[in-house]
Amino acid sequence: MESSIFAIFLWLASTTILTQANTIPHQHSILLKNIEVLDGEGKYILGWEISGDEIIFEIEAETLGWVGFGISPQGGMTGADIFIGGVLSDGSPYSQDRFGIGRMEPRLDVHEDWRLLEAMELPSMGKTILKFSRLLNTCDDEDYPIGNDTSRLIWAMGAADVIQYHGIDRRGTKSTNLIHAELPELDLDKLTRYILMADVEMPSVHTSYRCTFHKGPELTEKQHVVGFSAVLPSVEALQHTHHANLYNCFVPADSGLTPDEVFGNYTIDTGFAGGDCYDYDTTLPIWYCMTGSFYVWAKGGKTLVFPENVGYPIGEQAGTHQHEAAVITLGHEVDVSLLVPPNISDYKVVGHCGAECTQHWPEGGINIFNSLLHSHLSGRKIKARHFRGTEELPWIDFDGHYDFDYQQNKALLSHVNIQPGDHITVECDYDSTWKNGEIVLGGLGTREEMCEAIVWYYPRMDTYDLCASSYETDAHIREFGVTQYRTEVTPMLAKYIIEAPPSLEGDFQSSISYKFNWTQEFLTEFTQKRRYGIQRGSCMKRGGDNSLEFDVSYPADFVEYVPDDGCQV
Ligand SMILES: *[C@@H]1O[C@H](CO)[C@@H](O)[C@H](O)[C@H]1NC(C)=O
Ligand SMILES: *[C@@H]1O[C@H](CO)[C@@H](O)[C@H](O)[C@H]1NC(C)=O
Ligand SMILES: *[C@@H]1O[C@H](CO)[C@@H](O)[C@H](O)[C@H]1NC(C)=O
Ligand SMILES: *[C@@H]1O[C@H](CO)[C@@H](O)[C@H](O)[C@H]1NC(C)=O
Repeated sequence: MESSIFAIFLWLASTTILTQANTIPHQHSILLKNIEVLDGEGKYILGWEISGDEIIFEIEAETLGWVGFGISPQGGMTGADIFIGGVLSDGSPYSQDRFGIGRMEPRLDVHEDWRLLEAMELPSMGKTILKFSRLLNTCDDEDYPIGNDTSRLIWAMGAADVIQYHGIDRRGTKSTNLIHAELPELDLDKLTRYILMADVEMPSVHTSYRCTFHKGPELTEKQHVVGFSAVLPSVEALQHTHHANLYNCFVPADSGLTPDEVFGNYTIDTGFAGGDCYDYDTTLPIWYCMTGSFYVWAKGGKTLVFPENVGYPIGEQAGTHQHEAAVITLGHEVDVSLLVPPNISDYKVVGHCGAECTQHWPEGGINIFNSLLHSHLSGRKIKARHFRGTEELPWIDFDGHYDFDYQQNKALLSHVNIQPGDHITVECDYDSTWKNGEIVLGGLGTREEMCEAIVWYYPRMDTYDLCASSYETDAHIREFGVTQYRTEVTPMLAKYIIEAPPSLEGDFQSSISYKFNWTQEFLTEFTQKRRYGIQRGSCMKRGGDNSLEFDVSYPADFVEYVPDDGCQV
């Protein structure tokens, strides 16, 4: 059994003025603004800075041989834009622009787009330092345009200056956001840090959801959370923790119970270590907690700092306030109608948040300042689109290189104002080929799928925290020719069992994967209907009682937003 410690830090402030030292625990001489240790050990350190339409990189690598760096569409060599450089023993620098063509020596690119600025060897330390630059978008088909989304970096070092695929000494990949918003600085001295910590023994199952209860800080007056960060202080914790949701639990006054009566026997500090959230017979008081998910951390996520003058209120029941923030989940419902057909490398699922919901949002709209795009192992791209009338506005957020292991609570470069009556669509692209002929269904496990944008915004609304849609379940199941089925309630999500026709009898996932004949004709119609057909929209506060339901699909005849990539002539 492995044990995994997980801690969430909350920073509380009564005022929201905020510094944070970006401490990198490795010695290096790079002066650029952003630093990442690509190998995790400090033998390959990358710095970068954006300057106009250019990006400048500096690498400090522990080798006297060649140093390779690349940006890859999927994290492998194929299609990667690669820079290789070094310093020969006579002191002369060299560099090359290459293009990855699989697991072999990358070939030379036809254009030289990378520019070597400086190259230096420190023989006494066994290090090579390279400084080089590239246009963010070179408009060369063989170069990867660097955008605001995830960049999958690849790196390698050779033991000598002879560039050979087989001469690779060390290599690896790491995802990062090369272009990102500046986080407001947090002055930790002026803030209170509050730590929630759970030490969990890993059960030997593929996916499990652990619920632990933590007594909040005792506050005599309203305070605001202005930042969060998650700490996974062991290799096991890092390996096995996929995501965490922090909920704000509260006991309604009319229950006649006090919080101590409800939670007293279940908090971590009483020695109770928590339990399975989805256990049928659970006695855990989770029902008092389902309404207010207020922090989501997922693999790869970093510190979340709120914009200046915005905070999440605790210590008092809050109404709508100009400077108070909250979270809303947008996208596709997690259910059986979220279905990715077998053997497809680019299948799009869409979920809508329609005007029927947003028209009830506050006058003046809400301002989104942070976004977490969320799907699981089959997810490849996610985009949160924004429509006003028939016009599509710039995307709220997008990731064309989604990496399940690098999910970010990402501060948006500019806050996005959503007006009452606007429409939001979350689109997720999936690849099901890795399942060898099995369909992928909506679900909470990492091999199942979700399609969500979980966004922070202000001013907070107390009325809605979910605005999503899905294809009507019964129609969805019957379109496969199913005439009779039953539903089994499971601790996680409902399971569907096909009873007739006999040719499809059995578990829905398995029958639709292996017994159903996915003809091209069916696939074409299915794809069209799920993408553009009418869905059931719903808009609610989880655990609340004012939910709205309505029909929804894309706004009619909208004019698509096309970002300017600066390459048109
Ligand atoms: C990044 O996003 C900003 C703000 O939305 C936009 O102005 C800019 O063009 C984007 N840059 C790239 C390279 O996509
Ligand atoms: C807490 O545990 C004590 C001791 O087992 C028990 O008497 C009490 O009823 C429990 N309280 C609640 C609210 O479950
Ligand atoms: C999917 O691919 C697998 C393995 O490549 C193959 O056996 C199966 O027949 C394919 N299924 C469909 C529905 O195309
Ligand atoms: C699936 O349908 C196609 C087209 O109707 C047919 O040619 C094929 O034989 C069917 N495959 C199976 C396994 O029934």
